[in-house]
Amino acid sequence: MKMICIAGKNDIAVNVLLHCVSNYSDIKIGVIGNKNDIGKNGWQKSLLWYAKRHGVDILTLNDVYRIDNLIFLSVEYDRIIKPEKFVTDKLYNIHFSLLPMYKGCHTSVLPILHGQNKTGVTFHKIDSGIDTGEIIDQEEIDIVQSDTSYDLYKKMIRVGTKLVIKNLSDIMKGMERSYCQDILGSTYYPLNAIDYRKAYLNVNSTAYQIQNQIRAFCFRPYQLLRWEDCRYIECEILENRSTEKPGNIIENTEIYTVLSTIDYDVKLYKDVLSDIFSAIEKGENVWAKSLCVSKQIINAQDCHGWSPLIVATYNGNVEMVKYLIQLGADIYVNNWNGTTLLMYAKDAGINSGNWTIFRLLVDLGLDCNKKDYYGRSIADYISSEESIDKIPPDIVELISLP
Ligand code: TYD
Repeated sequence: MKMICIAGKNDIAVNVLLHCVSNYSDIKIGVIGNKNDIGKNGWQKSLLWYAKRHGVDILTLNDVYRIDNLIFLSVEYDRIIKPEKFVTDKLYNIHFSLLPMYKGCHTSVLPILHGQNKTGVTFHKIDSGIDTGEIIDQEEIDIVQSDTSYDLYKKMIRVGTKLVIKNLSDIMKGMERSYCQDILGSTYYPLNAIDYRKAYLNVNSTAYQIQNQIRAFCFRPYQLLRWEDCRYIECEILENRSTEKPGNIIENTEIYTVLSTIDYDVKLYKDVLSDIFSAIEKGENVWAKSLCVSKQIINAQDCHGWSPLIVATYNGNVEMVKYLIQLGADIYVNNWNGTTLLMYAKDAGINSGNWTIFRLLVDLGLDCNKKDYYGRSIADYISSEESIDKIPPDIVELISLP
């Protein structure tokens, strides 16, 4: 019997799994999780959580070595595969670079640190080396100067998902083609090429290099770049040439630090996310607005997945909701359980009796029927909470209660 095994982690592995579940119902599907997959969704979805939810078998490598009609997809998998242990030769990996460049680790950090404006994703055959197998397909990804490594990682997940799905379909039809990687231009970076615990700003650099350092290490679920006692999230290059020694402080406030560099002064924005949350909760809107000055902070999400807009919505802070949306806050945001902004607006409505934010978000196009990762919608929550009597008739109509 034919089988697809998806080994790996994060949204990309989950997306591929969900695609296989809905498109290849006649084929057996199994998954192998990474070591750190504890079956709980976090800033990325858990492959094991979704496998359980969809009744997909959770396997080990030993379970699949001897299956001959197997398609093995390594999708952010954390182990090196030994092809000689498998009976099948249909072993594939998605790597987050334009191979032959950037084999190995830190693929969302290094291209930014090196000032690249292009990278990509590569779908390739697995051979006995690390990311050395024959290339089947590639897709380029633009890196813009405002992208952080976190932004780039999310782009790679999005583009990578499409590339795996497209090529899986070709493999199923027996149409795959591959070619050897070039020797020239091939580069490799091992795990120890970067020690994230030592992510400190190197001030003896140009303004451009400093901006790239900040962008490269700005990956909030793991770390932000540190300097002295602060964590920084964004770097603006100022027009004036530095006249002081690199690293000299020109100005320091609660929100930013201006530094001298090798060439131009830079304005480094501090991580003020928790200050924004507390200002919004307390209704200190003037202070909250003055903290929302960097583009990065507007859509930042904390360890629960809360963004400033989620916090303003949940706390019924209408003025801040409008202000954040005007600044470009993402209304399609959700927390790490898939709780939507409208679900927070529903809570605020029930708690305060004021449904202004809920109505505003619906007017902006948010979908009342969108489900969270547990498959539940606002209507499901309201009927189980028995809070229907607290909801005005126009809202009841919008959320189509069962
Ligand atoms: P990871 O899944 O470990 O893969 P890789 O190093 O092969 O890319 O990490 C994904 C991205 O997360 C990585 O490209 C950079 C970022 N990252 C950090 O910024 N800090 C960290 O401590 C780790 C582990 C990852």
